[in-house]
Amino acid sequence: MSDQYGGVSAPAPKKVTVPDLIAMKREGRRITMMTAYDAAFARLVDQAGIDVILVGDSLGMVVLGYPTTVPVTMDDMVRHAAAVSRGTQRPLLVGDMPFGSYQASAEDALRNAARFLKEAGMDAVKVEGGAEVVDTVRTLTANGIAVMAHVGLTPQRVAQLGGFKVQAKTARAARRLIDDALALEDAGAFSIVLESVPAPVATLATERLDIPTIGIGAGVDCDGQVLVLHDVLGLFGEFKPKFAKRYADIGAQVADALREFDREVRDGSFPTAEHSFTMKDSELASLQRGLAQPKAV
Ligand code: KIV
Repeated sequence: MSDQYGGVSAPAPKKVTVPDLIAMKREGRRITMMTAYDAAFARLVDQAGIDVILVGDSLGMVVLGYPTTVPVTMDDMVRHAAAVSRGTQRPLLVGDMPFGSYQASAEDALRNAARFLKEAGMDAVKVEGGAEVVDTVRTLTANGIAVMAHVGLTPQRVAQLGGFKVQAKTARAARRLIDDALALEDAGAFSIVLESVPAPVATLATERLDIPTIGIGAGVDCDGQVLVLHDVLGLFGEFKPKFAKRYADIGAQVADALREFDREVRDGSFPTAEHSFTMKDSELASLQRGLAQPKAV
């Protein structure tokens, strides 16, 4: 393929699609999903070969500094989702519907989900909830919008749940979760996040569903796994859920780098000639001569 300068550029990688994810479950190939909120990190997630990027409303906690995801708005989500879309080529992109963007009516849900597709380049949306969002999922999918569901710990309900707690721990609650998941599949959801549920409950749900389950704190038997990028990289210290594995401690490296910058500026060892610009000696001499003359009025 020839680029605009006559050089040869690599062909764009084949984009991951919803049918690809369903086929991966059928073929027993595990799905990887990671959150991202800006173009720079999304590019790195893409380069790592991750299948799905979720622009999660965890944005509110790990980027915007809120204590929960509840204050996040559609405008926040669309701005960040569009940046993620500009930074990526291969992963399927999922925009997380924030609290208040889909609960009041199916019309609201449709209008806001359409914003993710039209303004932010997302391929699909995610909604939190069980039986209570089945009609919303049906409306969205009937109108051509791919929907990922999310049951178990649904952080938008953190006040009602009394905190970020493990869900479906009793037989009765686990049965309700599995029934909800089946109803969401029936309504057209193409995949479902299981968050903070006992591993055996996730196993039973995964066995009963044709659509892939993506676990976060739901054990190894889910069809795929998702984590929050800032937890994975050690960029979010405020709260560390048991399920969040830290694969790197970038936060500590960032803090070291910033302390070194602070020290070098204060002691005058930055910038050196390497990071400074020069001018011709003749121009400098002319400038100095000019400055020595009184300014004409
Ligand atoms: O907002 C988010 O990041 C999420 C994941 C935890 C699944 O919903």
